[in-house]
Amino acid sequence: MSLDMLTIPAQCVAESRIAELDYNNIEFGKIFADHMLVADYKDSAWQIPQILPYGNMSLSPATSAIHYGQSIFEGMKAYKDANGDILLFRPLDNFRRLNKSAERMCMPAITEDIFMQGLEQLLRLDAAWVPPTPGCALYIRPFMFATDEFIGVRPSSNYRFAVFTCPVGAYYGQALKVAIEPHYVRSAEGGAGFAKAAGNYGAALLPAKAMQERGYHQLIWTDAREHKYIEESGTMNLMFVLDGKLITPPVSTTILAGITRDSVLQLAQGLGYTVEERKVSVDELVEAYKAGMLQEAFGTGTAATIAQIATIHYDGLDMDLPAVEGREISNRISTELDKIKTGEAPDLYNWVHRISL
Ligand code: COI
Repeated sequence: MSLDMLTIPAQCVAESRIAELDYNNIEFGKIFADHMLVADYKDSAWQIPQILPYGNMSLSPATSAIHYGQSIFEGMKAYKDANGDILLFRPLDNFRRLNKSAERMCMPAITEDIFMQGLEQLLRLDAAWVPPTPGCALYIRPFMFATDEFIGVRPSSNYRFAVFTCPVGAYYGQALKVAIEPHYVRSAEGGAGFAKAAGNYGAALLPAKAMQERGYHQLIWTDAREHKYIEESGTMNLMFVLDGKLITPPVSTTILAGITRDSVLQLAQGLGYTVEERKVSVDELVEAYKAGMLQEAFGTGTAATIAQIATIHYDGLDMDLPAVEGREISNRISTELDKIKTGEAPDLYNWVHRISL
């Protein structure tokens, strides 16, 4: 099915809930915009999508996604520029990554026209929900799940793709204390760690909770084989500045290919910094810290944006990093990235998809 020239049918709310939104006090993930996009897959094809009021979906208790986890999602953001146009940041990269996740989880690919046209129409309708407030954005959550009413273990024949949005502020409100995980594993080579599959996040909750009980906000995953190399943080990819160089583990089957990660690397190269994508061992971090060369550490993610790391814990040692204000590379890149996303700086990398109202 092609949506060319077709307007997605929309059932609009009788009255917007926008008055509930306090633009100056937006928490992450708690208030949802008026509408959502929904498309069903059946008879081996995506059906005509619909825009509906944001609301509950009715599901059979035997819905296969609930039992066997064929469930994937994406996270992306939209901003407003000075003229009030909506700027979507790298939506086609989210589209491609969603389909990579779909392939790994044995689910059908969504079409580009449902994804892009659906987003455009949804955002035009809910334009008032894109906060103009600095540091805030409209977070967009595309997702897909298996809808067969069947509890045999096999790939579902039916799926639902949907998109809802929510205005958000910062995901992490402060520089993070993180701890390197020496025991649990997020993902092993050949697994599905690179996919944005719901189960990857569910399986991380217990270890993350244990770390939180020890006083750390998040954990740093290490490789499944030796617990020797840094992987990612689950909600974020990780970057370090060691002796003036920006270093990050390479993406693999175990690490999500973050779009913010890629943007930071491209910007850093463009600004003339030395960038290395290579394995980073825990020992290397500890040695660099002891030598005074662990200058910056931060996470990158759509929700997290650039989240500064204040302390890294490993094996009884709290490595307290230099003050955030003095971190040249991450602060500079964060500022440049924000300017591109909000249209204040030229879009030299062709990342911005503009929706003129
Ligand atoms: C994102 O950064 O968009 C994520 O998906 C991370 C998290 C909120 C689950």
